[in-house]
Amino acid sequence: MSFPVIAIDGPSASGKGTIAVRVAQKLGWAYLDSGALYRLTALLAQQEKVHWQDESAVAQLAKSLPVCFENGKIFLNQQEVTEAIRAEEIGMGASKIAALPAVRTALLQRQRDFAEISPTVADGRDMASVVFPDAVLKIFLTASAQVRAQRRAKQIGQPEHGEAFEKILADIEKRDEADCNRPVAPLVKQPDALLLDTSNMTIDEAVNQVLVWYNDKV
Ligand code: DC
Repeated sequence: MSFPVIAIDGPSASGKGTIAVRVAQKLGWAYLDSGALYRLTALLAQQEKVHWQDESAVAQLAKSLPVCFENGKIFLNQQEVTEAIRAEEIGMGASKIAALPAVRTALLQRQRDFAEISPTVADGRDMASVVFPDAVLKIFLTASAQVRAQRRAKQIGQPEHGEAFEKILADIEKRDEADCNRPVAPLVKQPDALLLDTSNMTIDEAVNQVLVWYNDKV
């Protein structure tokens, strides 16, 4: 029997990771960062000099990803890569390999295994639609591209205007375009998902809203 899952889907830099982690902490549940699995696969492919477009070779890497999640840190082949997988280039690579059906299939069971061990808060793009269609609560978490770019700029210590900021905004819009328009598992709000637009919300307000919705369900 699987444990209950709260599925949180949303675009790049929407804050879903931060919110999912806090909800998981409040409930004492596990946290699944599904995007990290795509990022790890992209990084491993780069290390092994496998082309991001080579579907069967990348899927092979995804199938036996030598990853370990430990106290908020991520290890690939015993090397810590917590920061390395957050690089913009690896995010783009993740977006590319995430469009390959064989790669998604290779990562599917690994994601579902989380809910075989513990109640789980899972964040990604297709948590509600594909990975956990029976999730007890489904949330589509978003914010305007402008707000997401501002948050990203703040996070990396860049000004929220000027050329560098425009590049961050353009990257976010480009990734949205790729994630929403791909033929397999595109990012889309499910009809039974609740919309949480955090453009004008603090993290605490967003976390509380998720917990209120969860308590309404149980
Ligand atoms: O959430 P993130 O930015 O870490 O995700 C990195 C990329 O992985 C993103 O461009 C889309 C892809 N992804 C996906 O296709 N499905 C998921 N469940 C999670 C991420």
